[in-house]
Amino acid sequence: MKPISLTGIKPTGKPHIGNYLGMYRPALDLMQNYQGMYFVADYHALTTVHTPDTLRELVYEVAASWLALGLNPEEAIFFRQSDIPEIPEFTWILSCFTSKGLLNRAHAYKAAVDENLSLGRDSDEGINAGLYNYPVLMAADILLYGSDVVPVGLDQKQHIEITRDIAEAFNRTYGEVLKVPEGIIQENVMKVPGIDGQKMSKSYNNTIPIFAPENEIRKQVMRIVTDSKRPEDPKDPQDNTLFTLLSFFASPERLEEIRQLYLHGGAAYGDLKKELAELILAHFANARDHYHELMHDRGYINDVLAQGAFRARQMGQPYLAAARKATGID
Ligand code: ADP
Ligand code: TRP
Repeated sequence: MKPISLTGIKPTGKPHIGNYLGMYRPALDLMQNYQGMYFVADYHALTTVHTPDTLRELVYEVAASWLALGLNPEEAIFFRQSDIPEIPEFTWILSCFTSKGLLNRAHAYKAAVDENLSLGRDSDEGINAGLYNYPVLMAADILLYGSDVVPVGLDQKQHIEITRDIAEAFNRTYGEVLKVPEGIIQENVMKVPGIDGQKMSKSYNNTIPIFAPENEIRKQVMRIVTDSKRPEDPKDPQDNTLFTLLSFFASPERLEEIRQLYLHGGAAYGDLKKELAELILAHFANARDHYHELMHDRGYINDVLAQGAFRARQMGQPYLAAARKATGID
């Protein structure tokens, strides 16, 4: 069997083209050399999403997004985290090998504490223990299946280090029971700019969502911030948000033509924005159709996730059994 590449996706919002280029596509490309395991991390989302209908809807949206963007559930093992009862059990066992100091230093928790302190509040105000234990749950996700590699963005690097640390602590106590995984950290992952030129992010309200209605996508693209140069003025394609976004979707030949128009005059921002909107719609045409079909067929999504959970549990149970046996809880 191929080595295992596993990644979890928190269901927290509508996917945008930054997510696609920075995460979905690279993660799916790994399927060529790895057995891919992808899961919807709904227990992790529960640290912040406390509205049941919202959480349910987000799980469907993120599942449909993966399937629409090319995840083949016959090959990949695709499941929902909360369908794996071994996960909370393993989380507890692992928490007994997690140094509390490590969790005190985890970025997300520290950021929440720092914010409280800067506002003159008690350091732990409003912080639930789920947020605090988030890295242990993530270690369980990774270690349960003996994952070899974990492709994640730079923001998740510390979580992988904590996972390795926990596995090593366990193995120091009981021998080589758990596989210590490697992170595949996309340090120089392309940073896709949003329509305002900052990094595209849900938090900045500057995204081009993949599955929104066509007119919304066109409208967002027309709102890309440009300078006040006229079409005939020469322009610098470097650090130009519109040009950068075009570079992801235009053919190499067309991109070169556009570059020449920028450099020597003739690039009209309005026309190029229209061209970009059509390129994006064409690029995602099939995925968009598929997404809408899937969102109307939740029974299918449930079936796919149930089958994925069955396969994932089969993979995970021997590791949990070995860990239980090692500890004497068998
Ligand atoms: P957001 O910033 O919109 O909340 P997330 O933090 O949920 O997005 O990101 C999920 C994944 O998508 C990240 O691991 C990252 O690799 C990728 N990603 C998000 N925004 C971008 C971007 N602007 N450019 C490239 N990759 C991105
Ligand atoms: N914490 C990750 C994020 O916020 C999601 C995640 C949960 C994950 N479990 C994982 C990623 C296991 C990789 C492996 O993006």
